[in-house]
Amino acid sequence: MLFEKFNFMAEFQAELKAQDVVPFGAVTEKILSATEAVVNGRKVILAGTNNYLGLSFDPRCIAAAQEAAGKWGTGTTGSRLANGTFIEHEQLESELAAFYGVGHAITFTTGFAATMGMCASLVGPGEVILLDADSHASIYAGAQLSGAEIIRFKHNDPEDLAKRLRRLGERASQTLIVVEGVYSMLGDTAPLEEIVAVKREYGGWLFVDEAHSMGVLGSHGRGASEASGMESDIDFIAGTFSKSLGATGGFCVSRHPELETIRYCIRAYIFTASSSPPVVASTRKALEILRSEPGLRRQLWDNANRLYSGLQALGLPVGPSPSPVVAVTLEDRARAINCWSALLDAGVYVNLVVPPASPSTNFLLRNSVSAAHSSAQIDAMIAAYAGLIDSGLIDAKRDG
Ligand SMILES: Cc1ncc(COP(=O)(O)O)c(C=O)c1O
Repeated sequence: MLFEKFNFMAEFQAELKAQDVVPFGAVTEKILSATEAVVNGRKVILAGTNNYLGLSFDPRCIAAAQEAAGKWGTGTTGSRLANGTFIEHEQLESELAAFYGVGHAITFTTGFAATMGMCASLVGPGEVILLDADSHASIYAGAQLSGAEIIRFKHNDPEDLAKRLRRLGERASQTLIVVEGVYSMLGDTAPLEEIVAVKREYGGWLFVDEAHSMGVLGSHGRGASEASGMESDIDFIAGTFSKSLGATGGFCVSRHPELETIRYCIRAYIFTASSSPPVVASTRKALEILRSEPGLRRQLWDNANRLYSGLQALGLPVGPSPSPVVAVTLEDRARAINCWSALLDAGVYVNLVVPPASPSTNFLLRNSVSAAHSSAQIDAMIAAYAGLIDSGLIDAKRDG
């Protein structure tokens, strides 16, 4: 019957209910600041928000949103092609294009719509989309919608990418290669220099999703593309407003003028209401702050390094290098759930990630760091993990 395929989820939910744990969709009852909230009746440090620069509570962004709501109303009530293009949408697009030093930008109502919509539209039947195996669900969704042949290459493995492009022969030139700047779950960065070298040798078009690297990497905050020095070889850069910019929405920029035509062929752009004026206004202000205050990025990295080295010193299994996303990998589901719950009891709210959202069969306690965290809050996170070891929930020697 129709619902049988959901049995695995019903069983998982029952298991969580029996343990009185709500790791997915836990209700935030009150937000106290960019880094603190009340969740399940407890005051907690937010350690899994993607609020990398802490801008969701910046008074300038809040004021811009309030003013826009008064001036333009709460919503556009229409798609960009109908009545939903306000002058502020166009201004935000110009500002994004200028930030990336390219001629063209499209904004979307969510980051998911941006990557899904672009991947679904840039390639079609008879063409190939070549994805890093750890790509985000929005990239997979777009690939499936595109009707193109989907081929995955091993995560962050340029040699495997080269092998697959070589096999494609002449078809390589009609292939869209999709990678992320910083990967959302383990915080590792794409080796863009090597990936670009492969693209130069075999052909193809390169699309980089900078959702977790905009505002995080690069001397101007343009992401892994900028940090690698490879921007001029990248055909499309996508990103989101929901992380470093503290709002909602997404974008794609490109040096190719054809983007302006492609805009009219993206269903996730045409058939959905455009971003509301307060969201556009706070995003514009956040982009201005991202550009003018590099100190925020330095603060973010100080915090990221502090958390990474603190967890590493405890012997916990963290990723290969420091990053604002610091994930602790566990093999056992029950233990991962217990750890998540114990961290919440200790006043630290992290993301519990289970397959298939995690890139392997493992479970993740995913922490994301913000420039707005204080050193004391980072130390409290480390202390909460030390508590997991002391109470025997994690065996650093076995798990590390
Ligand atoms: C790599 C990547 N792309 C796209 C998205 C979608 O962005 P949004 O949540 O802003 O819709 C996410 C969100 O987590 C992401 O991690």
